[in-house]
Amino acid sequence: MRYGIFSDVHSNLEALEAVLQAMEKEGVDRILCAGDLVGYGADPAACLALLRQRAVQAVRGNHDAAVTGQLDLDWFNSRARAALEWTAKQVSETDRNDLADLELIWQNPDLTLVHSGLHEPEQFHYILNLSDAADSFRSQRTPVVFIGHTHSPGIFIQDGTDLSFLRAAELRVDPRKKYLVNVGSVGQPRDGDARAAWCLYDTGERRIGIQRVPYPVEETQAKIRKAGLPDFLAERLSVGY
Ligand SMILES: [Fe+2]
Repeated sequence: MRYGIFSDVHSNLEALEAVLQAMEKEGVDRILCAGDLVGYGADPAACLALLRQRAVQAVRGNHDAAVTGQLDLDWFNSRARAALEWTAKQVSETDRNDLADLELIWQNPDLTLVHSGLHEPEQFHYILNLSDAADSFRSQRTPVVFIGHTHSPGIFIQDGTDLSFLRAAELRVDPRKKYLVNVGSVGQPRDGDARAAWCLYDTGERRIGIQRVPYPVEETQAKIRKAGLPDFLAERLSVGY
């Protein structure tokens, strides 16, 4: 099975289209999204329609939860909050119900999908270091867990009692180890690389690879400005931060 996994679309339609196209080229069998479908960007309804059309299996991110009232807006900084309030007015009742129905965790025998990590997933803790990763590994039951939330890709590896972090783009899965893979962000990368991120997981070849794909950033920025959203949300897309 070839899984295509991405996260943090954040209503960026141009980046989502570029990633879906790249997945098609790679012959992906199943598409998964680790949450934050909306928020920040100018195309929430179009992104939700496209995700639905492609039968993408998603889980709930903190921004998704905020749009449906499942998470308090006080959780967010002022720019994120402004975009969330705007987003709530853009989505239909069907979109809102779909967002509200997202589960926090989705799992099959191959993998687990969760937005922030497996430790208190409803709290949306950020996994920024080995100690944060250890908290999530304690609840990990599948060989690989895919997350997003920080918008910065990288792979945490548990080998017995040893934990390590790899910023590498590609690795072969060792069945004796466990992996916590942050797939980065489609719509708002924050690792200094402006290109959209996604991850290919080939269970047959036991291969995990983070991929990057360019998209027309200026188009996305123009839409954000036209919608009257905070200018910083457009600006940051050029530099991937
Ligand atoms: Fe996010």
